[in-house]
Amino acid sequence: MAQYLSDSMDTQDLLADGSEYLTQNYARAPFVLQSGKGMWLYDTEGKAYLDFVAGIAVNAFGYADEGLIDTIRQASLGLWHISNLYHNAPQIALAKALIEKSGMKQVFFCNSGAEANEAALKFARKVAYQQHQTERTKTIVFSNAFHGRTFGVLSLTPREKYQKPFAPLLSNVEVLPFNDIDALHQAISNDVTAVFIEPIQGEGGINIADAPFLQTLRELCNQHGVILVFDEVQCGMARTGELFAHEYAGVKPDILTLAKPLGAGLPIGATLVNECVAQAIEYGDHGSTFAGGSLVTTVAYEVLQRLSEPTFLEHVRVTGQYLLEKLQQLTSPHVVAVRGRGLMCALELDVAVQPLVSRGYEHGLLMVSAGANIIRFVPPLIVETSHIDHMVSILQTLLNELD
Ligand SMILES: Cc1ncc(COP(=O)(O)O)c(C=O)c1O
Repeated sequence: MAQYLSDSMDTQDLLADGSEYLTQNYARAPFVLQSGKGMWLYDTEGKAYLDFVAGIAVNAFGYADEGLIDTIRQASLGLWHISNLYHNAPQIALAKALIEKSGMKQVFFCNSGAEANEAALKFARKVAYQQHQTERTKTIVFSNAFHGRTFGVLSLTPREKYQKPFAPLLSNVEVLPFNDIDALHQAISNDVTAVFIEPIQGEGGINIADAPFLQTLRELCNQHGVILVFDEVQCGMARTGELFAHEYAGVKPDILTLAKPLGAGLPIGATLVNECVAQAIEYGDHGSTFAGGSLVTTVAYEVLQRLSEPTFLEHVRVTGQYLLEKLQQLTSPHVVAVRGRGLMCALELDVAVQPLVSRGYEHGLLMVSAGANIIRFVPPLIVETSHIDHMVSILQTLLNELD
């Protein structure tokens, strides 16, 4: 039906209706995407785009994956929604699989990354409340962090442009410099409820936390009874070539938040908690009507199994390394830095990147920025080296066109 609707309308009419009827809080590209297969998307005019965005690090298996279509077709014959007043088997199966793979204790399901972090914030507060630690009012985050846009986690996303129009936000949030071990020693004390960190910052520009930094953070949180939250909404679930991004540091969080690729495009988030946090959560502390429905959890279970296959993770590591090397071979005086891990890479320039992203559209390439001067590469995890070659050759052309 949706396809029929857009087929029957002129693209310009759709864009005009979009500006008229949708709230204008996104800067959307000037075309309408209609279908896709594998790494490629097609707009209403039939133009093809090679996708290095994956719906912002969501579509791990690209588009129209036959296995997932079969799974969702089967699941659609069952119960779509029953609420959390009742048990459903796919939700329990997914929870068990996530816990077995992560070594955490229990999971709370929700519908997005922001909600997964909201739950983490509440659960950390609940631990302090249960322990009568009223002095623990501070939350620590890091410069360039992005934890979401809902009110609680917006307070943990220290960017003036996002926060200023909505002040006052949650009080007593301290922002520390990323990868600065001395700052950790100075700030982490018994007045802190929780520390939130993305082991690899996504929106903030693909900044990788050093392993010793995460290890020190873990030690200090242990010493001072602080809940450590790893936000792996963007970097988790195989994106870096390991199922969980923090594996490289050899430390575990008290709370781990996941979302984007977990439903391969269906909305689902998950807040995984260790035993200390799990025992503090009681009936009525939190909830969500839609969360963990059997349709989405059936798909997520399948996604999780496929993402955890050792050969799949190896594919991400190998193609990720290839992507990094190809980006490093770009020649332009405007390149400032190239960095990344797995299929989560960044190209930092000394100029604004949005004009390049827009010119990429003309060449049939989808890219996304992460800050004013950084292009982020988070393709579907099924990307092959031939796609990377194609993307890099377009990018080199775009860089050559810069003054
Ligand atoms: C690290 C991180 N946390 C949280 C979020 C918020 O997720 P959502 O947009 O699903 O609410 C994002 C989204 O980009 C993210 O990258």
